[in-house]
Amino acid sequence: MPKTLALYLHEMETVHHVDPRLTGLINHLAETCKEISFKVSQGALAGVLGSAGSENVQGETQKKLDIISNEIMCRACTESGFVSAVASEEMDHALQVPENCEVGPYLVLFDPLDGSSNIDINVSIGTIFSVLPAGEPHRGVEDAEFLQSGRHQLAAGYVIYGPQTQLVMTLGFGVMVFTLDLSTGNFYQTAENVTISESTKEFAINCSNMRHWEAPVQRYIMELLAGTTGVRGKDFNMRWVAAMVAEVHRILSRGGIFMYPRDNRDPNKPGKLRLMYEANPMSWLIEQAHGRATNGYQNILDIEPTALHQRVAVFLGAKEEVDLVTSYHG
Ligand code: F6P
Ligand code: MN
Repeated sequence: MPKTLALYLHEMETVHHVDPRLTGLINHLAETCKEISFKVSQGALAGVLGSAGSENVQGETQKKLDIISNEIMCRACTESGFVSAVASEEMDHALQVPENCEVGPYLVLFDPLDGSSNIDINVSIGTIFSVLPAGEPHRGVEDAEFLQSGRHQLAAGYVIYGPQTQLVMTLGFGVMVFTLDLSTGNFYQTAENVTISESTKEFAINCSNMRHWEAPVQRYIMELLAGTTGVRGKDFNMRWVAAMVAEVHRILSRGGIFMYPRDNRDPNKPGKLRLMYEANPMSWLIEQAHGRATNGYQNILDIEPTALHQRVAVFLGAKEEVDLVTSYHG
């Protein structure tokens, strides 16, 4: 039988001296995502599909499962004893630990259910998380304390709810994949030290936005589409799942490049994806797997955040492709 998540985390403590409170938090997140996975798998049987009729801070319509997953993650994290506060895509501001619960040394950011538009059509979705240091455990955490660059992350990952439920994570010692065994309720390691090939023939972008993209992205995609007849001299294939978790999972599994560029529809919106709980954790996974992640100008992990829900352009995956599209930005 492969290694359990519990054994892997124990090895991280003994071999790499990872703080047991951090491994404790990861174990807690994995347990929590099992609960979300169960709700997702129940779908209509549990009455959890469809819209909740409300909007989040980003002006997006919330699905019932967005709200349910957010509640599960918030409760589990704030009652764990491992965190000083949490922040989520679904909440305007940081959420504090209840007075009757212990505080811990970490800040957790999450997108409780990424790829929401896939919920009702039974296509892969996921939970993304990023763990930052909180310093000494404390209460009354301000939003500003979360504004640390992605380089400060202590742990990052996602749980994908697809044909299998898998936890993909890094503690800075490679990217590990654990698959949930429904017969035992345990996560078992099914891939270790995942790496992404530097070159690829597969890209992912929402081409319906093409006319709104900036010139460097238009040029890059036109060159890919020209295939063997163009400057690239090879044909490329395209995929679009419309859930970042699933796109990143495909890239970690068989390579590729994923892009969500900024476009010129709203100058105040530099991209669609959120830096703190989408781009940063995914970029760290990609870098740990020897890929690259930029906003077209700099590595995403080096961006100094200015707002909890700030958006960012994202180009991530195979190093050669990300380097090329980044170079076109000048
Ligand atoms: O969280 C935002 C998100 O749902 C991502 O998971 C996904 O990559 C993207 O938006 C899909 O965007 P679009 O609706 O343009 O296909
Ligand atoms: Mn998302």
